[in-house]
Amino acid sequence: MKPPAHSPLLTEADLTLGPGGQPASRRYGDIYASRAGALGQARAVYLGGCGLLDTPARWAGRRQFTVLETGFGLGVNFLATWAAWRADPQRCDRLDYVSLELHPVRAADLLAHAPRELQELAAALATQWPLPVCGLHPIALDAGRVHLLLAFGAAEDLAPKLKLAADAIYLDGFAPARNPQMWSPTLFRALARLSKPGAVAASYTVAHAVQHGLEDAGFTVTLQPGWGGKRQRLQATFNPIWKRTRHTLPAAWPEAQPRHAVVIGAGLTGAACAHALAQRGWTVDVLEADTRPASGGSAMPAGLAHLQPSADDNLLSRLTRAGMAALRRALPPQAQDLARFSPALLTPADAAEAQRMRDWQRSVRLPPQMAQWTEAGWLVDSAVLANQALCAAWLESPHITLRCNTQAAALQHDGSLWTVLDPAGRCLARAPQLVLASALQTPQLLAASGLIPAADWLPLHALRGQAQALPARLWPALHELEQPWMGSGYVLRLPPAAVRLLQPAADPQNTDWLLIGATFESDGSALTPEQAWAHNRASLAALTPQPPLPQHPAALRHFIGTRAASADRLPYCGSLAHLAPLLADPQRAAGKQLHELPRLPGLAVCAGMGSRGLTLAALLAETLAARIEGTPLPIETDLADALDPARVALRRLRQGQAGAGTDRMGSAPVDS
Ligand SMILES: Cc1cc2nc3c(=O)[nH]c(=O)nc-3n(C[C@H](O)[C@H](O)[C@H](O)COP(=O)(O)OP(=O)(O)OC[C@H]3O[C@@H](n4cnc5c(N)ncnc54)[C@H](O)[C@@H]3O)c2cc1C
Ligand SMILES: C[S@@+](CC[C@H](N)C(=O)[O-])C[C@H]1O[C@@H](n2cnc3c(N)ncnc32)[C@H](O)[C@@H]1O
Repeated sequence: MKPPAHSPLLTEADLTLGPGGQPASRRYGDIYASRAGALGQARAVYLGGCGLLDTPARWAGRRQFTVLETGFGLGVNFLATWAAWRADPQRCDRLDYVSLELHPVRAADLLAHAPRELQELAAALATQWPLPVCGLHPIALDAGRVHLLLAFGAAEDLAPKLKLAADAIYLDGFAPARNPQMWSPTLFRALARLSKPGAVAASYTVAHAVQHGLEDAGFTVTLQPGWGGKRQRLQATFNPIWKRTRHTLPAAWPEAQPRHAVVIGAGLTGAACAHALAQRGWTVDVLEADTRPASGGSAMPAGLAHLQPSADDNLLSRLTRAGMAALRRALPPQAQDLARFSPALLTPADAAEAQRMRDWQRSVRLPPQMAQWTEAGWLVDSAVLANQALCAAWLESPHITLRCNTQAAALQHDGSLWTVLDPAGRCLARAPQLVLASALQTPQLLAASGLIPAADWLPLHALRGQAQALPARLWPALHELEQPWMGSGYVLRLPPAAVRLLQPAADPQNTDWLLIGATFESDGSALTPEQAWAHNRASLAALTPQPPLPQHPAALRHFIGTRAASADRLPYCGSLAHLAPLLADPQRAAGKQLHELPRLPGLAVCAGMGSRGLTLAALLAETLAARIEGTPLPIETDLADALDPARVALRRLRQGQAGAGTDRMGSAPVDS
């Protein structure tokens, strides 16, 4: 049978035992580590080769250190590095370890083959082991001080899509003759682009092609006495003689700068951003114009986060897949009350869509835990979340101060700090980092502060929506319904935290509520609550042959909110282009690439979630925090570029639309 055209599902490792009883790969006909022992090799060749067993080790006294590895295999190098980091009193505060792997092993294999003294660490890793699906899988260990980023897929495809600054590089593919893809000049060049000046690489192989490939990529190679019966091992330092292009490496947050941020907006996005920064030890002030969090577009009792499959595993599919994983990571441990994970049934709206959806199963292959075709439609990974309780949980931290009834009207920069002003021009807060999570208000706030020429340089439009909640007993046909249903509309059961908000006085008769939604109303087409209920009822009737919903139940509760959507339907997540210097020479600026644009320092935007705030808020918050601190990006750069707010400015410059309003940019109070 022809394999599906888009198969995020990877073929797992085919482990066997080599002649000496050590783990080996059938596919590559090679053993995973030296016959003399995997742990010994990890220490002598990789940790030793990269200066991590020296006193002091290369990570000593540092805030953060990044190891990049080709070939995660059975994770012995990782476990040995983690153990050495733990044992070192001078270790860096945070260790990032990024590893590329095309054929992941199973969690059980990790455990079975972990060296005895690393079993405890292997067990901690095994509990979070991801499904073998293409893409990046972040795993936080050791109370969030060790971050493993598993990059599943072919190293040659994925390395160019990573964004990180490596201090140490472990080159550990199978033998070059059996696994040439892992030692190609193209891969070495991609690794060089990810290396800090002075980064040290290590390998067990001293094959000539490897030495030459590394030298051509800018490394100086030396051969050291070998280990485990091998005459020599390789060590290399990255010090290219050529000048590197700007903006290739992510910049670390300056050590001397306080890790203090102001987040504007306490909807799902602002709460997620504050949470992600607080998790990294930042002090965060959250300013919210309304009387309480989750009162703007997030003011629904609940919503559905879900994976969106597609025929070609498109950008949205990859983002929502990563979004579901990030959501699980970001939820507090006791989250049953506010989140209910179960597959949702994604049903076609009509026969044509049914055919399209049926076709997906031939073109895209995903593990059943993520998406599965059934006669009724696709069962996809999903969670029903109680919006308010989720915001409250994310904002609940000694590092976060929430200030409601606090409207930001303008932003000023003095070269190092941002000041947020209220409508009367008084200072509300100051910090070196600002995060705008103010949804629809974001473009106006930026334009009012002279940071963009006009609001349409970061276009967001309002999409009003209405949903209704009703006690489940009013629709007995749905008693059988375990999972959420969605298609042209949706119906879902509210999690307990949402029910409590609907009826503060405990009512044992009514603990089971359904949410039915939702309308999409653009400017000028606002529906009355009655019209919205009729619309949502009709959408649901198209989804299910169940007896119709009651027409006017007295217990019906109406909810209205406004989504903020960008023109291309993708959110904005990242820093803004510094437009003043670009607009001084728009023609030259139009020839630049996204990564070449100058950025406003210390100012990030996370807005425009459209109808996917629940699915994407945690992922984008994690991504933004990584961008701010310069740690490895948890999503591939093609996804990050698609979300980059500067894409709009670049598009306008390329289309020669720099004109209107740009005269106001001359006074932009920012140094780049
Ligand atoms: C009817 C409906 C149903 C939906 N269903 C789903 C669903 O099932 N799944 C899903 O994923 N998404 C759903 N959504 C979308 C989702 O709710 C949004 O994407 C999400 O809530 C957006 O969150 P946010 O924090 O970006 O924006 P908001 O919740 O709008 O938060 C922005 C906050 O910023 C504050 N603010 C703005 N300007 C300022 C300022 N100048 N100073 C201080 N504070 C300011 C606002 O007061 C507001 O609280 C739905 C939306 C609606 C309306
Ligand atoms: C020698 S093993 C790695 C051992 C590992 N570092 C450890 O500590 O256990 C080589 C690994 O490279 C992986 N690999 C081979 N070709 C690859 C490719 N093109 N891209 C990514 N990984 C690849 C293999 O699946 C295998 O797991």
